[in-house]
Amino acid sequence: MKGIVLAGGTGSRLWPITKGTSKQLLPIYDKPLIHYPIGTLMLAGIRDIFVITTPEDAPTFKRLLGDGSDIGVNFNYGVQESPRGIGEAFVIAEDFIGDDEVALILGDNLFHGHGLGTQLKEIRNVLGAEIFAYSVSDPERYGVVDFDKSGVAHSIEEKPLLPKSSYAIPGLYFYDNHVIEIAKNTPPSARGEIEITTINKTYLESGLLKVRVLPRGTMWLDTGTIESLNAASNYVKIIEERQGNKISCLEEISWRNKWISDSELKKIANLFNTNEYGIYLSKLTAGSN
Ligand code: G1P
Repeated sequence: MKGIVLAGGTGSRLWPITKGTSKQLLPIYDKPLIHYPIGTLMLAGIRDIFVITTPEDAPTFKRLLGDGSDIGVNFNYGVQESPRGIGEAFVIAEDFIGDDEVALILGDNLFHGHGLGTQLKEIRNVLGAEIFAYSVSDPERYGVVDFDKSGVAHSIEEKPLLPKSSYAIPGLYFYDNHVIEIAKNTPPSARGEIEITTINKTYLESGLLKVRVLPRGTMWLDTGTIESLNAASNYVKIIEERQGNKISCLEEISWRNKWISDSELKKIANLFNTNEYGIYLSKLTAGSN
């Protein structure tokens, strides 16, 4: 299973903050935003990760993440020249995906909750597509799925004025290899984008779309507006301060996955010196977390 993080876009809803930098590089409490979706892919057991950025921001993402070898993963990079939609990710990443199945996560989506990694690790040998549904108070802001009486997905709509259900579709999608061809054959929408919702509809219409409802105990946040960006920071701060555990600490996830050893983790911890993040990493191998 390959993974893609889509971190393109102009972030214009967050201007002036994002006039000089990418949204996915902004801090969510104690980490850059992009660490959260990367952490979700790593929790899903995915080590080959393709990061798609704008051409302007590519060098900064490479400086931040490197080739991933220090944390036992493999980062590759691609660029989206202009905002031509989420679906274009599969065309840009075609060579990287090769003959494999693929998970796509949006660079501004944050997932957290008990058992999430275990649930995501089970998604393998995907026959068609697997996506999620999550109950929200403002479904009109998202892709929306509704279900028939037997709980089977019935329709999918992008940002409907009158949503048929309260189930939003979070920005985490799993596909078989056909998604590349489907994306290539999906005509751009009126706003000139290859819509992920159109791709999902194609799978739905061929009876190959599985929708899993994320339990209430899972938190899904997006960070598309100032309010939601701030809410995400507050959420991470509250959980981390209360528990003393970090959300989406990439070095920790890698270490718990046994992708890096105790001594490799200690080496990284030393680089952070005595800052709070470094002390947290040091404590992990000392067994006090
Ligand atoms: C995109 C998708 C939408 C999905 C959402 C999740 O919307 O088009 O279907 O529900 O991401 O964050 P956007 O955030 O680009 O408006």
